[in-house]
Amino acid sequence: MTTATEIIRARAGSQPIRMGLILGSGLGHLAHQVEGIAIPYADLPGFPHVSVSGHNPHLHIGLLNGVRVAVFGAREHYYENGNAAAMRPALEALKQLGATDLIVTNAAGSMRPDIPPGDLMLLSDHINYNGRNPLIGEPTDARFVPMTEAHSPRLRQALQEAAAAENIPLKEGVYCWYSGPSFETPAEIRMLRLLGGDAVGMSTVPEVILARFLGLNVAAISTITNMAAGMSDEAISHEHTKAMAPLGAAKLERILRRFLLAMQ
Ligand code: HPA
Repeated sequence: MTTATEIIRARAGSQPIRMGLILGSGLGHLAHQVEGIAIPYADLPGFPHVSVSGHNPHLHIGLLNGVRVAVFGAREHYYENGNAAAMRPALEALKQLGATDLIVTNAAGSMRPDIPPGDLMLLSDHINYNGRNPLIGEPTDARFVPMTEAHSPRLRQALQEAAAAENIPLKEGVYCWYSGPSFETPAEIRMLRLLGGDAVGMSTVPEVILARFLGLNVAAISTITNMAAGMSDEAISHEHTKAMAPLGAAKLERILRRFLLAMQ
């Protein structure tokens, strides 16, 4: 069988990819700015069948600010099929294509009053509150992945410099992975705050674990779409997430473009 990596090379050329970007809910705009080609996930063996509205299931390969990137327009979440390793084949393909770095983005609820909706949060670390691990079943000793400094200090520094150059505040905080698809209760949010969480969402953590397993440097940014349950009077919904994500997305795009310029 032809592998995803072979299909990508045949269609997009075999020059190595420098960096991967996974786009979260409502952040799809950047994918269409890649100067290159878009391959439907359906054409790529092992890539996820994504069922969440607001996502664009294409892999975009080409240049973004002069850097050869692979932009994943959509991800499979754990809550879709209960598979924490759903993104493993896609990230393995990224590694085989030569990438060394991965930037992950998501939409999240804030548990910090000083990081309101519309702001961005750079992940300094995470809490795998879901408890599921994408490496369960991996038979080799490579499964024992150290997670100290899992969120690359070098990439975070570069993202902070890009944000400063764009005059965009970028606070850092701890992201808690909650399984979804239901949102959290106010009591759960009070608990997550006590545990040291700053934002909560339904993705990203398994991808960070897989990236470290594969030897990719990784950093992640949340666009804050709402205050977490119980922290404001605003109703929380997926519609609201999709409506609010573009607010942060414009800032995120400026940071990522500036960051890529510095990576050239
Ligand atoms: N909780 C979990 N996931 C989310 C939220 C939230 O409040 N907002 C956007 N994604």
